[in-house]
Amino acid sequence: MAAGEGNLILGIDIGTTSVKVCLVDPNNKQVLSKQTKDTQANVPSDLGSEGNKQDVPKIISALNSCVSRLPKDQLKQVGRIGICGQMHGVMLWSNKEDKKAWDCIETYMGCRFEIPKENVSALYTWQDTRCERSFLDTLPVPQCHLPTYSGYGCATLFWITRNRPDKLERYNRAGTVQDFAVAMLCNLDHPIMSVQNAAGWGYFNTCVAEWNSDILQGASFPTHLLPHIVKSGAIAGTLDRPWYGIPSGTSVGAALGDLQCSVLATMQKPDDAVLNISTSAQLAYVMPPQFEPNIQCPVVTPVEYFPYFDQKYLAVAASLNGGNALAAFVCMLQHWTHELGFNVTQSKIWDTVLSLGGQDCAVSSLRVVPTLLGERHVPEQNASILNVDPGTLGLGQVFQAVCSGLIENLYGMMPRQMLVASNIERIIGIGSALTRNKVLQKQVQEWYKLPVDFMSGGDAAMGAALAVVECQ
Ligand SMILES: Nc1ncnc2c1ncn2[C@@H]1O[C@H](COP(=O)(O)OP(=O)(O)OP(=O)(O)O)[C@@H](O)[C@H]1O
Ligand SMILES: [Mg+2]
Repeated sequence: MAAGEGNLILGIDIGTTSVKVCLVDPNNKQVLSKQTKDTQANVPSDLGSEGNKQDVPKIISALNSCVSRLPKDQLKQVGRIGICGQMHGVMLWSNKEDKKAWDCIETYMGCRFEIPKENVSALYTWQDTRCERSFLDTLPVPQCHLPTYSGYGCATLFWITRNRPDKLERYNRAGTVQDFAVAMLCNLDHPIMSVQNAAGWGYFNTCVAEWNSDILQGASFPTHLLPHIVKSGAIAGTLDRPWYGIPSGTSVGAALGDLQCSVLATMQKPDDAVLNISTSAQLAYVMPPQFEPNIQCPVVTPVEYFPYFDQKYLAVAASLNGGNALAAFVCMLQHWTHELGFNVTQSKIWDTVLSLGGQDCAVSSLRVVPTLLGERHVPEQNASILNVDPGTLGLGQVFQAVCSGLIENLYGMMPRQMLVASNIERIIGIGSALTRNKVLQKQVQEWYKLPVDFMSGGDAAMGAALAVVECQ
C-alpha cells in the first residue's frame, strides 16, 4: 500500500513512567490494538533529588519496542501518526549538517531508531526542581498568562545557560522528548512544536502563538534553540523511512500535550470534567469558546488555562503529586522490607495495599498530605501526616489515607463548587494510577460528590491519534 492510503492511525504517548501506543480505526474510534512499556529511564542527577532526568535512548528504545509488538498487518495500514507526551520537559540534541542525532538500523520490517548517547542530553523532566524560587526571581517577567515554574523548558534552558554553558556548545537543537521523536521519525533538521507544548515551556504568548523572543533575547537566552511553532493538530512532516512496516511518507502530526490528548479522547459532553491520574494528576474541563486569558501578567494560581484545540482553553488543576506519590509509598515499603531482611516485589506490595486499603476497617481519621513534590503554587510544601493515634497505624489505613490525601489536595486546587459553577455534571476518571486503583476511585466519589465514571480505554495515545484526524 502506498503512503497516505492506509486508513489506520498510530497514536503514541511518551509518558513519564511508560510509553503507550495504539492503533485506532478513525471511522468508529475503536482501538484495534495497543502496547505499553515502562521506560525505566530515570537517571541520577549530580544535583541529587533536585534534578529529575531521564535517559532518552531508553525512552526511544521503549517506543521502538512498543511499535514492533503491534500486529504487522495493521502497521502496514497506518496512514497517519499522532504523538503526544509528558509536558514541560526539555532535552537537547546535536544535528550535524550531514548527520542527524539518530541512527536508523535496517530490520526486515523497515528501520528501528537508535540514539547514540553522545548526540543527546538527558531529558530534564517536569519533575525537576533545580530552579529554586530565588533563581526564578532573577528571570525576566514573561508576556503571557502562564507563569514559568521549575521543570518548564524555558526555565531549565535559562538554568543550563547560566550554570552549564558547555552544554550549549555540545548541542544545537532543543525540544520536548515528543518533539524529538517527531523530528526523528520525519528526519527534521529543525524541531517543530505545537502551541500546546510551547505553552508548557513558558515565555510563550498563546494568543498570537509566538515565543516572547525579545524578552528572552534581552536576557541572553539561547533563542536559536526555540522550536518552530505550528497549530495544535497540524502535520509536522512525513515518515522518512519505513518503520516496522509503516510506509515511509506517512504523515506525522506535531507533538501534542498528553493532558489535552487525554481530554480529547475522553470527554463526551461539554459538561464533563476529566480527571487523569498517571505519574502526576490533572483535573480539567473545556472553557467556553469565548474565553481568552489575560496575557499581560502571569498569575500564580492553582487553576491554570492551557491551550486546547480550535482556539479553546482548558481550565486545569495540575498537581505534581499523583501516582508518583503512591509509587513512592510502595517503593518505601519495599525498601523497609528489604532492610528487615525480606524480598517482596513491588507488584505484590501493590496487590496488598490495594486489597487492605479497600476494606471497611481501613477508614480512619488519619490524614496524609502527600505533596512530596510540593505544588507549583506552593513549591515549599512537603508531605505530612496528621492525626496519628494507636488505632490508625494499619497498612490499609495508611494507604487509604494517602489516596484520600491525593484527592483532597486536588480538591483544594479545584473544588466541587468551581465545577458546579462551570456547569460540570460529571467527572470521567482516567489514567493508569486511577483505573488500577479502586481505593483512589472511591475517594474521588467521596470528595467530589458528583457522578463519576472510570474509563480505561480513552487515554492520551488515543487522543493523539484522533487529533491528527479531527483537529487539523
Ligand atoms: N500495580 C499497580 N497497581 C496500581 N497502580 C500502579 C501499579 N503500578 C504502577 N501504578 C501506578 O501507575 C502510575 C504510572 O502511570 P502511567 O504509566 O499511566 O504514567 P505516565 O502516563 O507515564 O505518566 P504521565 O502521564 O504523568 O507523564 C505510577 O505512578 C503508579 O502510581
Ligand atoms: Mg500519561
